[in-house]
Amino acid sequence: MTDLIQQLPKAELHVHLEGTFEPEHIYQMAQRNSIDLGYESPQAIVEAYDFHDLPSFLSFYYAAMNALQTEQDFYDLTYAYFEKVAAENVVYVEPFFDPQGHTSRGVAFDTVIRGIHRAQLDAEKQLGVQSNLIMCFLRDMSADSALEHLQMALPYKDWIIGVGLDSDEKDNPPSKFAEVFERARAAGFKLTMHCDVNQKDIVEHMHETLDLIAVDRIDHGINSLDDPALIHKIKSLGLGLTVCPVSNHFVVQSYTTSEIRAMLKHGLKVTINSDDPAYFGAYLNDNFRALVNEAAFSSAEIATLVKNAFEVSWLSDAEKTSYL
Ligand code: HPA
Ligand code: ZN
Repeated sequence: MTDLIQQLPKAELHVHLEGTFEPEHIYQMAQRNSIDLGYESPQAIVEAYDFHDLPSFLSFYYAAMNALQTEQDFYDLTYAYFEKVAAENVVYVEPFFDPQGHTSRGVAFDTVIRGIHRAQLDAEKQLGVQSNLIMCFLRDMSADSALEHLQMALPYKDWIIGVGLDSDEKDNPPSKFAEVFERARAAGFKLTMHCDVNQKDIVEHMHETLDLIAVDRIDHGINSLDDPALIHKIKSLGLGLTVCPVSNHFVVQSYTTSEIRAMLKHGLKVTINSDDPAYFGAYLNDNFRALVNEAAFSSAEIATLVKNAFEVSWLSDAEKTSYL
């Protein structure tokens, strides 16, 4: 089974580039940029990790971003992720990035996106990993800030396939960003949003995501199972759901295998993803292995989950055919 997981060509649709920042790289980059993060070694960074919910994770995630300063830093971060997953036989990725996590500390939008884009071009040429970038808005910042960043992204429209919504979901409903997402759609971006596992008001948030925002995909979305009307809507729209088993484990102490199986049984297009692999200690293949270890997922189930990711990706139909 481990061989099958390794050998299948795979796609990943839910990975935050800033969540691929390995402790060794955090440490090295902080040193080369003379930033004091308060850690004496990469090991000290790992020892400080203590994630038990979304806010406890996000505080580490944003603190480490301080090490990222130059275009080369963003290039190195991104290229290192592609190298890691190329070795796992991942052939296509739609990674997220969080520009507001950088502009808010004085790093220019251009610096961030140019470094990431150059790494994408090199990864395609040198590693055979194709990718299309998704820009996320931080939902715990204002809608005005999101609008400003949408404006910043317009000159780079050809480098960004879609927009998403991440960070702390509590009391930050999709409706807060209705206008931003409306404008993003009008500008030609695909739309997705996090619907994090077991968040406060999650069923309401999921209905807003579908009815008010009309997303093209849902990130996480495990709680669709809480309401038959949600299952029905998501299924009839054929929307993909990007579930992240190891990430879920930090919140609900389970890889959510029974939920993933239930979603498959309902005919929902579930996919498996890593979310923040450097922090959660599991890249894509380890997320698939978690399903096998916790609930003995079969080869057929794994193959379906892998196929779903290409199907609900934002590749053109012609490109999808080349992978499927
Ligand atoms: N959830 C919400 N926001 C995030 C995450 C996550 O898992 N990772 C990075 N930003
Ligand atoms: Zn995420």
